[in-house]
Amino acid sequence: MTLLVTGGAGFIGSNFVLHMLQKHPDVRVINLDKLTYAGNLANLKAAEGDARHVFVQGDIGDKALVDGLLKKHNIQQIVNFAAESHVDRSIEDPGVFARTNVMGTVNLLSCARAAWEQPDGMYPPNARFVQVSTDEVYGSLGAQGFFTEETPLCPHSPYSASKAAADMFVAAWHDTYGMPVNITRCSNNYGPFQFPEKFIPLLINNAKGKKALPVYGDGLQVRDWLYVEDHCAAIDLVLQKGRAGDVYNIGGHNERTNLQIVSAVIALLQKHLGDAGISEALITHVTDRKGHDRRYAIDPAKIGRELGWQPAVLFDEGIERTVRWYLDNNAWLQNVASGDYLAYYDKMYKDR
Ligand code: NAD
Ligand code: DAU
Repeated sequence: MTLLVTGGAGFIGSNFVLHMLQKHPDVRVINLDKLTYAGNLANLKAAEGDARHVFVQGDIGDKALVDGLLKKHNIQQIVNFAAESHVDRSIEDPGVFARTNVMGTVNLLSCARAAWEQPDGMYPPNARFVQVSTDEVYGSLGAQGFFTEETPLCPHSPYSASKAAADMFVAAWHDTYGMPVNITRCSNNYGPFQFPEKFIPLLINNAKGKKALPVYGDGLQVRDWLYVEDHCAAIDLVLQKGRAGDVYNIGGHNERTNLQIVSAVIALLQKHLGDAGISEALITHVTDRKGHDRRYAIDPAKIGRELGWQPAVLFDEGIERTVRWYLDNNAWLQNVASGDYLAYYDKMYKDR
């Protein structure tokens, strides 16, 4: 089985590539990533020397490149992680979110159809296009209730609008051209290799340096946290067993307010570093994010019931592992925070 993973040098994509190589000895992964500021080949160090992993630097919107890869490697399945993923950046510069998240996805779909659709309109039995989407497409919840797969799409930020648009195109390729697709919608991920613009690694990085911990508005917004390895296992399962055309929500019932997250990170850093300077005194309430969604919470009953997925890592264990990982991998964090990781590609891959 040859799988195209896009965005496989980013946070979740790199965890997924390593998961697939480790769990499936028969899988070959073609990893297409543009290496934007968020892509980091150091995340894939564990796959170096593994002939089953082929890294290609390029844009998912490049038709000639994607057509060529699908043909050359006889790719049967695609998991699309590639995206601009940060809400705050989308508020400042929405255009690239439309280009990559919407038009890039449309290009992947068109190329996949051209490669896979047979003259009778059927697709090979193994063909599958998995679109990695987000719970943010559902909008924001009040104090009660959960997002189910039937919740109407109501995105608010330019990021979530671009992800919702992509989801509609993926569904259209199923309904119009019969392409076997799935859409997964996951809550907030955390764990190793997350870029420190995102809340949890940003808190760890700032707290270590005794810098202010910026909390948007009152900090009582709620996110539903999922350990990244649990997300990867869920996508793997959807790829193997998902019903074509279906949406699967992925979440682990780990709702926390942002202030609870800050307290958990501070407590763990205090425990591991024993540094009294890392304290709640660093919390700094700053101007709220524009259009800030108040609460996300996933109902994951469908993927549990139909595919047998359950999260293995509860929040207390996941956050302990995550803080420990960032402390143990200080060089990774420093490289990313300083921008030095951008030279890694030149050093490791350019001449090959
Ligand atoms: P990330 O920003 O860490 O990684 C994105 C990767 O995509 C990077 O390696 C980047 O170089 C690559 N990329 C960007 N534009 C590209 C292009 N035009 N062509 C090829 N590659 C390109 O993102 P992430 O947090 O790992 O998220 C991965 C996917 O999961 C995204 O689609 C995101 O919407 C979705 N998602 C993320 C979360 C989360 O909590 N992080 C939750 C649910 C869904
Ligand atoms: O829900 C899934 C989504 O989770 C994914 O689709 C996105 O790609 C991913 O970035 C994430 O979006 P969020 O906006 O929820 O994540 P972020 O880490 O940016 O922020 C988490 C919460 O913390 C949010 O309520 C905003 C708040 N926050 C964030 C930052 C960066 C702060 O209070 N201060 C900060 O400095």
